[in-house]
Amino acid sequence: MNNILEINNLYKEYNVKQGIFAKEIYLPALRDISLKLEPGKTLGIVGESGCGKSTLAKVLTLIEDLKSGDIILDGVKLVTQENISQNFQKNWYQKIQMVFQDPYQSLNPRKRVWEIIADPKIVSENLSKETAKNEAILMMEKVGLRKELAERYPHQFSGGQRQRIGIARALMLQPKVLILDEPVSALDVSVQAQVLNLLLELQREMNLSYLFISHDLSVVQHVSDQILVMYLGEVVEYGPRDEVFNHPKHPYTKMLLASAPKVRESEAREEIEVQGEIPSLFDLPTGCAFKSRCPYADESCSSKIEMQKLNQSLVRCIKAQ
Ligand SMILES: Nc1ncnc2c1ncn2[C@@H]1O[C@H](COP(=O)(O)OP(=O)(O)OP(=O)(O)O)[C@@H](O)[C@H]1O
Ligand SMILES: [Mg+2]
Repeated sequence: MNNILEINNLYKEYNVKQGIFAKEIYLPALRDISLKLEPGKTLGIVGESGCGKSTLAKVLTLIEDLKSGDIILDGVKLVTQENISQNFQKNWYQKIQMVFQDPYQSLNPRKRVWEIIADPKIVSENLSKETAKNEAILMMEKVGLRKELAERYPHQFSGGQRQRIGIARALMLQPKVLILDEPVSALDVSVQAQVLNLLLELQREMNLSYLFISHDLSVVQHVSDQILVMYLGEVVEYGPRDEVFNHPKHPYTKMLLASAPKVRESEAREEIEVQGEIPSLFDLPTGCAFKSRCPYADESCSSKIEMQKLNQSLVRCIKAQ
């Protein structure tokens, strides 16, 4: 099957200046990320805070530039953001859209709900207000919001309803890929399931592909077909959902799963004891970035380690087998 999204050897650095007279330093936020996403499928992205999940989302939505590597979205290749035309951007945003974590901050408080939802369509297609409003109302109904609510403002909605508004807005241009960056973590647990079910229904109905970023491993396990595990800007394990959850291979994946109670109950799993501190991205060790915390570490971990195939997964280390 053709992939709707492909990322090849992507690197991203932030230039950081600590103090006005300080030298600029580079923070390697993403290092050699490669992944593939098929139409109608979900790739779950997991990893501790700061490992680069949102940075990946920002590069994919052209908010941040990449340093090297490429992204192929529905056959269109992005190599660098320098000199890309407005037309390129417009086409890109018609294919990929993002739903943000915080439905309280991501909606303009001064706009009516239908205007918020219609906005991408008005900007992109120059539609009349009347037509855009009608389309927004149809989309509201699709995400489970009554059309009578169209004239209201965001503050008049609950968290779950606001997230439905965010989803409706992201879908207005009928994109093929949605990036969901912690889409339910700001919501009450009871509402999380409703929003997740809506996302799954919409995916089936519109053949959407999802990049689903979350800290909550049980949520990721529920919605994903494939799982990508990141550690300090690198992919350490990448494979089918059940393979990763039932037979985790990288010591870091084992550690993550062992510390997630809900996921753990389903499988008796060998616990790995983690020691040491997370290194800083400013001062990464040579070789494996996880070696300072890993019980399996030895001298060989100081050389660069490539991904290798093990059963159906790709994994950066096979010492824990
Ligand atoms: N605009 C920026 N300028 C400089 N450094 C940044 C910037 N944005 C993020 N970073 C750094 O890049 C690294 C990756 O951050 P990112 O937000 O992508 O992590 P994350 O995996 O999304 O974390 P979380 O789970 O907390 O959302 C972190 O070290 C972060 O401090
Ligand atoms: Mg983030």
